[in-house]
Amino acid sequence: MIKIRHLKKVFGKKIVLKDVNLDIYDGKITYILGMSGQGKSTIIKHIVGLLKPTSGEIWVDDVNIANADIQTLYKIRKKVGFTFQEGALFDSMNIFDNVAFPLKEHTKLSKEEIKKRVFETLEMVGLDANRVAYLYPHELSGGMRKRAATARAIILKPKYVLYDEPTSGLDPIISDKITRMIIDLNKNHNMTSVVISHDLKETFKSADYIAMLYQGEIIEFGSVEEFKNSKNPIVQAFIRGDSEIYEKIAEGV
Ligand SMILES: Nc1ncnc2c1ncn2[C@@H]1O[C@H](COP(=O)(O)OP(=O)(O)OP(=O)(O)O)[C@@H](O)[C@H]1O
Ligand SMILES: [Mg+2]
Repeated sequence: MIKIRHLKKVFGKKIVLKDVNLDIYDGKITYILGMSGQGKSTIIKHIVGLLKPTSGEIWVDDVNIANADIQTLYKIRKKVGFTFQEGALFDSMNIFDNVAFPLKEHTKLSKEEIKKRVFETLEMVGLDANRVAYLYPHELSGGMRKRAATARAIILKPKYVLYDEPTSGLDPIISDKITRMIIDLNKNHNMTSVVISHDLKETFKSADYIAMLYQGEIIEFGSVEEFKNSKNPIVQAFIRGDSEIYEKIAEGV
């Protein structure tokens, strides 16, 4: 289980995360929703230890990574795979080397074993390994790049996978395929998943839990039904895509 407690993050003078409290349950798919710039990516960067909190705790199982040393963080990174929102792959490396990268960093597997794992993992995310392994990221479509980035995130067989906007910029059919991949990895490979998204359609299809981030706090948490029936006017404005109401509430009008 991942437990975030009183997470606060200040960049310069800007308080981005004020008091984030969130539980990520094992075996489930939890979405974090929220308007652009509310700090969703900032939350997951804390979970993998890329950012240090101004204050608060982030427990990944029994380790509070807010004050973990480098060696502990290194171990945690093996347990938590993640895909970046933008440009997740190294442009100068082909897909094989991109996906193999964490294996070379974290394991002593032989060349043959690495090849086997990379090819298996590319197939797991729905890519034809023989076709794409030796292509470069710019030679893939956007959807294929997201899958390849996922392959790299899961190559160490992590307990947790964090996806930062896995369907943004993709058409509805490819988005559906990516959502099916997330469900498959969750259900059939037992990967607890955290998904950041704006994509309500994909969220409602696949979420076990939805958390909504607003002004530095999680203002709603629950199942899809609970979320849809939320009495919070910000949640309702977000679901309906009503900027006028959203902004009126945000301005306290
Ligand atoms: N390293 C950083 N230094 C300074 N400010 C930052 C840094 N990272 C994020 N921010 C600021 O924190 C705020 C939240 O950013 P974040 O990327 O977490 O938002 P988000 O909810 O993921 O948005 P989007 O939906 O557009 O991806 C923004 O105002 C951003 O400018
Ligand atoms: Mg983001």
